[in-house]
This record gives sequence, structure tokens and C-alpha cells, in this order.
Amino acid sequence: MRTFFGILITLLIIVGVALYVVTLPEPQPTSPPPPLSAEVLEKLPSDREGQVLIYGAYGFTGAGISRLAADYGITPVLAGRNEAKLKPLADALGYDYIVLSLENNHDNLVNVLKHFEIVLHIAGPYTFTAKPMLDAVVEAGTHYVDLTGENHVIQDELDRDQEFKNANIMVMPAVGYDVVPTDCLNVYVAEKIENPTNLMVVLNGNYTAAEGAEASRGTMKSGLEMLGRPLLMRENGEMVEVSSLKVIQREENGQTQTLVQIPWADMMTSYISTGIPNIEVFQIQQGEFPGWILRLAQSDFGRRILGWLIDKYLPEGPPPGAQEKRQTRIVSTVTNDAGDSASAAMITPEAYLLTFHSTLIVAKRVIDGHWEPGFQTVGKVYGPELALEVPGVSRSDL
Ligand SMILES: NC(=O)c1ccc[n+]([C@@H]2O[C@H](COP(=O)([O-])OP(=O)(O)OC[C@H]3O[C@@H](n4cnc5c(N)ncnc54)[C@H](OP(=O)(O)O)[C@@H]3O)[C@@H](O)[C@H]2O)c1
Repeated sequence: MRTFFGILITLLIIVGVALYVVTLPEPQPTSPPPPLSAEVLEKLPSDREGQVLIYGAYGFTGAGISRLAADYGITPVLAGRNEAKLKPLADALGYDYIVLSLENNHDNLVNVLKHFEIVLHIAGPYTFTAKPMLDAVVEAGTHYVDLTGENHVIQDELDRDQEFKNANIMVMPAVGYDVVPTDCLNVYVAEKIENPTNLMVVLNGNYTAAEGAEASRGTMKSGLEMLGRPLLMRENGEMVEVSSLKVIQREENGQTQTLVQIPWADMMTSYISTGIPNIEVFQIQQGEFPGWILRLAQSDFGRRILGWLIDKYLPEGPPPGAQEKRQTRIVSTVTNDAGDSASAAMITPEAYLLTFHSTLIVAKRVIDGHWEPGFQTVGKVYGPELALEVPGVSRSDL
């Protein structure tokens, strides 16, 4: 994915910057939209029990979740800020929809959310979208799940734990590929030894495919928001700033592999789920990450350019067929001061396909009454077996 991303953006950067400077307006502060009419609100469910709102429904991932919702017995109302994108999807699936922006729109958000038991918040980067939705769910008393992998957003959510408890709602981040399979696997291995002190997770997102596992535009733009922030890793129970990512060489099946440390959300969520104070996540390297992207991503202006290029030139997500062909493999290993260790592996379907299922599995649990108030993690509330409910997921001890 990184190689593809790098080559494509290298080719397009010069023309892209020129076009950007010429055509892209500065973001303007938005004035509050008018209040939603009584007629619009009356069309929403009158009894919130069991009612699900999917916000960001027409994005790559939101659309995948919306298409699969009926398989889980869920009839959602679809939401997003752009009617031209929202209506065709809602019409095709036969669901109601509501056009709703996030910025400067608190009262309308609350008035809509009051009609729903849970919102699946699928609009990102969450750096920009999480706060207005969280402010609204607190007031509306609506449960909330999202797909953020942005650790600073998860920290912000954790910091609001008491507020969520007072509102008697559950706020659960990262119910997608990042982190449902890893968090569940981590809880599983953590239970195998006494007082685990170290957790190491290795992701192979490209287990069965020859070429890179492409990400959606939203995932790439969310990644940019992390690149522009201090690099934090979980050490001795704290998130501490490090200067660089660890790189490890290892032999597997007679081949040398390079593992690169990544700021995966497990460092936030599995710390809550397992209490393990040292957590490292690595992925098998699939190409060099271009240094100039890293440098450009350090400024707001640079991230705006990169984000614009992603929207303009990259495909919306992995190519057709990827979801059927690709699998990922995750290995989690725990160790303790006594020298004990335990490892287990998980095979999963392609990351986005898994995300569609895992989000709906969690949503179904919530509307069936299985939730806990406050900031929560998947592995803590639902335990290690939840990931195995996703079709195509298997787990083995190593
Ligand atoms: N945890 C995981 O494993 C996992 C898996 C998949 C996705 N994700 C995350 O989920 C998010 C969405 O991913 P995606 O693949 O669906 O990306 P996408 O195809 O780019 O869609 C992004 C969606 O968010 C909406 N959006 C963005 N900014 C918004 C704002 N300020 N106000 C309202 N709506 C806004 C977009 O609406 P417009 O088109 O109107 O801008 C669109 O509906 C990303 O943050 C991604 O990282 C995480």
C-alpha cells in the first residue's frame, strides 16, 4: 500500500500543489444550519429502542456497513452531510436518511440522536468529527461506537469517561479491524499467564495477497492526522513520546522479515482491556514509507495538500475482489517477569470486510442490551470470543 501510495503521490505532487494553490479555497467557518423542521424530525423513529443511526453512511466503510446491516437484523437510518451522496445509497437499500452536518450543528444533532439507541459514527478523520458527535450523544443519551485508530482521539474519549457514565451511555472506539481482532486476541493470550507485563502484536495485513493491501481514502487521511502528531508508545503504563519507530529483523519460514513498529490503537485499548503496561505493535514491512510525506504531514497546510491529493487521485478503497481474496494474520505474544510466555494467532478476512461485520456485531450487542456505561473497549466488555463471530475469523494457540 505504502509503495503504491508513494509512487502515485510522487508523480502527482507537483501538479497537485499547483492545482491546490490555484483551486482549493481556505476552509471557511460555517454558520449554524437552520433548525430541522418538525416535519423532518417526525419521520424519525418515535421509539428509540433498537434504532440505529449510521453517520458517514456513504463513505467507503459506511456504505459497506449499511449494505450489511440487514444481515444482522438492523434497519438503520442513514446520515451524512451530503444529500447527493446519501440519497442514492438510502434509496438503493430502502432505508430512511437524514442530511446532517457536524460542524456548528449541536442542537440538530441532539434532536436527531434522541430518536436512536446507538449511533455508528463512521465519518473520519475523527480528529475533526469525533468531538461534535460526542458532545451530542452525551446530551441525547445515545450509545456511540466509532472506527477511530487515531490514538489522540481515543485518549480524548477516555478523558471523558465520567461524562459518559453520568449520561449512562457507552462510548466504544475502534470497533473495526483496528482493534477488534487484536484486542480480542490480546485479552485471550493475557489470560494464559500470571501478571503479564509485555504484549507484542505482529500484524500481517497482506497474508494471502501478493500485492499491497490498499487502504480507503478515509483511512489514509486519518493516518495523516497521526503522522502530524508526536509519536507515542505505551511504556510502563504511560503513553510516552519516542523519537523513532523500532525496526526488527526476524526469520520466519526460512525468510528474513522486517517488522516496523506502528502506533496501532491497541496501545490505548488493550491497555484498558488487559492492563498490560508495555504494548508494542509491529507490522511486516511492505515497502519504504516516503520520508517527504512524513515531512509534509507535519504541518496543517501539508496535510491539507496530501488529503486533497488522496481525494482527487486515489481510489476510494481496496479494488473489487480484494475482500474475497485477502486475509490478514495477527500474532499476539505476552510475557511476564517470571519468564512465562504465551502466543496465539488469528486469521481474519480482509480488513474492511471484517470492519463491516465487527461494527454491526457490536451494534447488535448494544441494542440487545449488552453494554456498560462510560468509555469501554471491545475486549473488556465482550471478551476474547467476540472476534470469532466475524465470518472467516479463526484463532489458534502457538
Ligand atoms: N478501525 C478500522 O479498522 C477502520 C476501518 C475502516 C475505516 N476506518 C476509519 O473510518 C473512517 C471512514 O473511513 P472510510 O473508509 O469510510 O473513508 P471515506 O470513504 O473517505 O469516507 C469518509 C466519510 O466521512 C465523512 N466525513 C469526513 N469528514 C466529515 C465531516 N467533517 N463532517 C461530516 N462527515 C465527514 C465523509 O463525508 P463527505 O464525503 O461528505 O466528506 C464520508 O462519508 C476513517 O477515519 C477511517 O480511518 C477505520
